[in-house]
Amino acid sequence: MRIALIMILGLGLLLSSFRQESSVNSKVKPLAYPVNTVSFADTIKLDPETGLIVDENLFMVKAQCTGCHSTKLISANHFSRDGWKQKIRWMQANHNLWELGETEKQVLDYLEKNYAPVQVVSRRAPLKDIQWYDLKLK
Ligand code: HEC
Repeated sequence: MRIALIMILGLGLLLSSFRQESSVNSKVKPLAYPVNTVSFADTIKLDPETGLIVDENLFMVKAQCTGCHSTKLISANHFSRDGWKQKIRWMQANHNLWELGETEKQVLDYLEKNYAPVQVVSRRAPLKDIQWYDLKLK
């Protein structure tokens, strides 16, 4: 009788150790973001000084865009070329940003190429040409 009791206790202990293990597994959290929004990161080099993407016109962006605010304001945004131009006009109208003159093209080339709007494809495209049929109930 006593042996049976010890065996039952032992079995319970053994089973609870398995349960422990499965609760560890359940602590693995799913990714907070779809993988395709971050997977490009290892192919792009960031400038250590500014955190901006390394590219041929970065020097001009560094020259024209780093005097007043953090470059995070740039890297946190994604606009079309026209959108970036509007931001520049807005800073010129309201925040004493100077005329960029000839260099504006280089700045816009850089921003358009590296900080364009991002599209995350997380769903399949809607179906086209669906052939509907009548459901026949017998
Ligand atoms: C003369 C100062 C100055 C310079 C130089 C400057 N900015 Fe700004 N910028 C500002 C100010 C001021 C703000 C508003 C900051 C805030 O809202 O805290 C701003 C805000 C921004 C924002 C955020 C806009 C928004 O909608 O919130 C972006 C993006 C930006 N700047 C990009 C640039 C780029 C690109 C350049 C280079 C062409 C640049 N800035 C150069 C003054 C400047």
